[in-house]
Amino acid sequence: MSQPAAIAVRFISADGENVQEVTAKDGDNLLDVGQAAGQPLEGTCEGQMACSTCHVLIDAADFAKLPRASEEEEDMLDLASHVTRYSRLACQIHLTEALESLTVHIPAGVHNMQGR
Ligand code: FES
Repeated sequence: MSQPAAIAVRFISADGENVQEVTAKDGDNLLDVGQAAGQPLEGTCEGQMACSTCHVLIDAADFAKLPRASEEEEDMLDLASHVTRYSRLACQIHLTEALESLTVHIPAGVHNMQGR
């Protein structure tokens, strides 16, 4: 049986000072990958679309690679702070080979319990 493809993901802090590159597997959820890497993504509802604490900003160059957000996701994003046209909910993004080298910016503002 073949191994799932490895997908590189880069997280960049809100101030741009910290860049973390991690390797994920095809099918991994972006919220899970970010949390496992220690990124400040709370994800209170664990992907149940009942919060917006998994808000991330996808790099402009990568945004078009993602499937469109559902109406439900768009509605939840209305509740997030610092929303831009590149905002998405990390819990709704499943990594695929098409997203190789995805760059994800952590939004400004505190939105997690650790206050990081
Ligand atoms: S974890 Fe709540 S909407 Fe993503």
